[in-house]
Amino acid sequence: MTAKRALGVCYYPEHWPQSRWPEDARMMRQAGIRFVRIGEFAWSMLEPEPGQYDLDWLQQIIDILHGEGLEIVLGTPTATPPKWLVDRMPDMLPVGEDGQPRGFGSRRHYCFSHQAYRAECARIVTVLAKKFGAHPAVTAWQTDNEYGCHDTVLSYSGAALLGFREWLAQKYQSPQALNRAWGNRFWSMEYRSFDEIELPNATVTEANPAHRLDFQRYSSDQVVAFNRLQVDIIRKHAPGRTILHNFMGSFTAFDHFAVSKDLDAASWDSYPIGFLDRDVTDPERRHRYLRVGDPDMQAFHHDLYRSCGRGRWWVMEQQPGPVNWAPHNPSPLPGAQRLWAWEAFACGAETVSYFRWRQAPFGQEQMHEALLLPDGSINEAYETVRTLNEELSGIDDSAGSSRATVALAFDYESAWAWSIQPQGQSFSYLGLAKIYYRALRALGVTVDIVPADPEHVKGYALVLVPGLFEMTEDFCRALGQDGQVVLAGPRTGSRTGDFAIPQTLPPGPALQQRLDIKVRRVDTIPPPEFEPVGDAASGFFFSTWREFLSAGDDVVVTERTADGAIAFCHNQAGNWNYLAGQPNAAYALKTIERLCDRAGVPTTHLHQDIRIHDNGPLRYIFNHGPEPVDIAQLVAGKDVLMGSAILSPCGVAICRQQ
Ligand code: GAL
Repeated sequence: MTAKRALGVCYYPEHWPQSRWPEDARMMRQAGIRFVRIGEFAWSMLEPEPGQYDLDWLQQIIDILHGEGLEIVLGTPTATPPKWLVDRMPDMLPVGEDGQPRGFGSRRHYCFSHQAYRAECARIVTVLAKKFGAHPAVTAWQTDNEYGCHDTVLSYSGAALLGFREWLAQKYQSPQALNRAWGNRFWSMEYRSFDEIELPNATVTEANPAHRLDFQRYSSDQVVAFNRLQVDIIRKHAPGRTILHNFMGSFTAFDHFAVSKDLDAASWDSYPIGFLDRDVTDPERRHRYLRVGDPDMQAFHHDLYRSCGRGRWWVMEQQPGPVNWAPHNPSPLPGAQRLWAWEAFACGAETVSYFRWRQAPFGQEQMHEALLLPDGSINEAYETVRTLNEELSGIDDSAGSSRATVALAFDYESAWAWSIQPQGQSFSYLGLAKIYYRALRALGVTVDIVPADPEHVKGYALVLVPGLFEMTEDFCRALGQDGQVVLAGPRTGSRTGDFAIPQTLPPGPALQQRLDIKVRRVDTIPPPEFEPVGDAASGFFFSTWREFLSAGDDVVVTERTADGAIAFCHNQAGNWNYLAGQPNAAYALKTIERLCDRAGVPTTHLHQDIRIHDNGPLRYIFNHGPEPVDIAQLVAGKDVLMGSAILSPCGVAICRQQ
């Protein structure tokens, strides 16, 4: 039986005496680890003095790992430039919105726009790629580490100012065209030349949203260019190796689809318990999933990065136990680490790699658990890895990776647009996308999260397009082509690409040709206020965001809010649908169930803790809750390969569809 899935670990050999390295490598092999990521923060050890390289230790550890049959993911060290480099060119530091440079003494202290820093990165990456590119054990590379972490995509530096002006000149060709696009007559903001344009920080009150959106686009493009520079060098000297970057979950400051285009596979860093505080506001839900993480939020990212990597993706960092960086850091339920790994594999991950091998007794992350304790003895997650390794070889997934029938279109520009102009403080584009995603999951539907462009939405039975900022004719045409059922709204199509209200009012002419509606007013309501849909006893409501629509005669209105506004409507054929507010979980479920039904997508109401993922002939079932759950109905008539009809807390069942 061939298992293409693998386990990995993040290792910092430079933190431990060399005499320990052979023992570490042996223990890794014994646990069943295949990939070891090293090097991504080691610049000061690789080049202690400018131009003086010390690569011997790296060569030595690579050879030791190779000797145990392990493969290496070599990280480029560009997230941690050494002090001597910063002192040589202090203007490489990122500058905060307050205009202050952010200092040395942690990590990610660089500005993506700084051309001389890019040249330094190219230099160190070339040295590493030339030296280790052909090593048989170095089968994968990671560029940098978590682009944007610690809020570092937007930098208000001198380098960014110069780069932005040039980028604008290329885009608009003349200051007049820019003035028109941005609407600069408003408040006398007109420019006579590109050199007059400043960065959109430190203004008296809010800067022009079009100005801010372009700065965000520019900044995202710098991350793409920064990454591409490294990829090109690695590809040249290490042909055939897998090039990855480890993205951060729930993070939208740059376009992950755009960066991924240059990579061979995407990866992300999964910290289910660490993210709970950030992803979940409901106190009951927080309480229930305190020690396992939200049942939908790991899978949301798995489904997103599968699409970023065009089917090839990893979890580069998996939480092993309590972490150190969340507001509170509870320990996982027994079995949680196993469930997280299996869920990633169910969604098609090639590798799940743990962060980190051994808990560090020094530095910022002393309180972050690892597979080994600080004294080098085995910790709980080491045992989990060993168990997983045995289990993986027993399940053949070679026929997996089939595509879902439902797609959720996700768009980074929309996330920028709506954070620039939320209109209601609690409105979040990512939050809205998650409401729809959760409803699909609660109905047992497997989803692909795809970019909002014409090539990626074809062939699905149902496509959800919540909050997409600009709705172009091309995109609408692709959406309608195969008779897909489409759900738009709220906020979909409510701006042009220049951040202006469409002349025909939202949702803009392309959508209006298919569904004759106009958004005449927007009402944002502070939580916990809400507006019932139907009568007050229905349990369905809009909160945070709702719209008042007018509709043509051939529009079918199926639900109204308690105060009489249109809540949900569709065209005569029923394939173009619009939801006019942010639904609560119950109303999202009802709406999506109805559309799945129309699109011929089977649904089933799952127990609150149970989630499933279908992948080829295999169905994976997970219990994210603290109590056993009866799943007999879900496995009835199927060949059960793992687990049982009563699924234990954190339990995993796998069955083959007959
Ligand atoms: C990630 C980061 C790692 C480490 C880890 C701790 O965000 O990539 O270097 O800091 O968090 O959980």
